[in-house]
Amino acid sequence: MDLFQPCWDYVEPRFARAAGIYPFFHQLDASEGPVARHEGRSLVMMGSNNYLGLTHHPAVLAAAKQAVDDYGTGCTGSRFLNGNLHTHVELERELSEFFGYEQTLVFSSGFLANVGVIATLGSHPGAVIFSEAANHASLIDGARLASGEVRIFEDPEDLAAQLAEGDSWEHALVVMDAVFSMTGRVSDLKAYADLKTRYGFRLYVDDAHGIGVFGPNGRGTVYEQGVQDRVDLLFGTFSKSLASLGGFVCGEERVIDYLRHKARSLIFTAGLPPSSAAAALAALRVLRSEGPELIDRLWENARYWKRGLESLGYCTLHSESPIVPAMVGSESLAFRISKDLFDLGVFAIPVPFPVVPCGQSLIRTSVMPTHTREHLDRALDAFKVVKKRYDIPEFDPDNLPVTESEDWSWFMPQDGAPAEPPAE
Ligand SMILES: Cc1ncc(COP(=O)(O)O)c(C=O)c1O
Repeated sequence: MDLFQPCWDYVEPRFARAAGIYPFFHQLDASEGPVARHEGRSLVMMGSNNYLGLTHHPAVLAAAKQAVDDYGTGCTGSRFLNGNLHTHVELERELSEFFGYEQTLVFSSGFLANVGVIATLGSHPGAVIFSEAANHASLIDGARLASGEVRIFEDPEDLAAQLAEGDSWEHALVVMDAVFSMTGRVSDLKAYADLKTRYGFRLYVDDAHGIGVFGPNGRGTVYEQGVQDRVDLLFGTFSKSLASLGGFVCGEERVIDYLRHKARSLIFTAGLPPSSAAAALAALRVLRSEGPELIDRLWENARYWKRGLESLGYCTLHSESPIVPAMVGSESLAFRISKDLFDLGVFAIPVPFPVVPCGQSLIRTSVMPTHTREHLDRALDAFKVVKKRYDIPEFDPDNLPVTESEDWSWFMPQDGAPAEPPAE
C-alpha cells in the first residue's frame, strides 16, 4: 500500500466541507476575549479555555509588549543552551512560591512538559506508569514514549484493584487529569492520594483546567481537595487561565533539576518566547492579586450558563467546572449544530468520537468572568434555536448510549445523497 493511501482515504473532513458544516480551523480576524470576529461578524466566544479572561488584561498585554522590546520576538534556541531568559527563571520562582513546591520547570508548551516528564521518569529501570483511561493526549503520548510498562485504569477502584497485586509501588508513577477538558468532570484526587499513602507510588496530576478555577486564589484542584502534600509532581499550563503559551511542572528540587538536564522536550526545542513568558508571569501576578474576585465572577457565570442550558433541555453531564458540555449524541449532528451556532453568532466547538465515546458527541462550551449577561443570553438564545431545530434526544448522564459506529447522516444534504462521494 502506498504510504499516502490512508491520507487519500480520509474522507470525513471532505464530507463535512462539502456539506458546509466543517467546524474546525475557523480563521478568526480578531478577539476581545468574550467576543471574537470572523469575516466582519462578532461571535460570542463560548469555546475557549480563557477561564479568567486574562488574554486581554491590561497588565498582561503591557508585559508581553515590554518583553518584545527587552528581548525581541524569540529565543532562537533551547533554554539549555542559549534561550534561557531571566523571565523564565522569575516565572519558575513565582510558580514554585504560589503552588508551594521546591522548584518548577517551564517548558515551551504544556504538551511538551507532559511528554518530557512522563517519558523521562517512565523510562527509569523497572518503571510502571498507571495512566487514567480518559487522560489528555499529551499524558498518553508521554507514556507511549517511555520505555517502562504502561497500565491503564478507569477510576480509583480499578487502580486500587491493580495495585493490590503488589505491596509496594514506589517504582510506579500514577498520572491523571484533575479536570477533564471536554466534559468538565473533576477527578477524585483524594481517593488517589489515599492510595498513594498506602502503596507509595509517585503521583502526577495534570491540572491544566483546574488552575485559576479551583482552590484558594485559583491554586487549583489539588488545593481544593486538600491533597497538595501528596501530589509529587503538579503540572500546569499557561494556555488556559494563564492567558499565554507554555507549560510547567512543580516538584522537589532534585527531581526538577534532573528533568532540567534530561527531559528531551525541554532540551531539544526552543525556549518559550519572551512575550509568552512575560504574559504568563503577568497573568500569574494578576491571579495572585485579583484572583478571588475573578474566580467569583467566573463561577457566577458558570452557574448561570449551566442552569440556562439545562433549562433549555440540554444534558450537561455532571460538569462541575466552567467547562459545560451540551450532549448531542451523533457526531455529524454535533457538527451541524456547531455550524448553526456559528451562523447565529456563537463560537462553540463540536467534540466527536474518538475524543469522546462513539455516540456521545457533544458541544463543548466554557465561560469566562468577562462574559456579560448579555453575551451569555445571546448565546443561550442561539442554543434555544438549534434545540428547536433539531431533534436532540434526551440523555441520562449516568447511562449514556454507546454506538457501534459513527453517525454521518447529518452530513447528507436534504435529498439524502452524500455531499461528496467517498474516495475509492
Ligand atoms: C488536560 C490538558 N493537559 C495538557 C494540555 C496541553 O497544554 P498546552 O496547550 O499548554 O500544550 C492540555 C491542552 O489542551 C490539556 O487540556
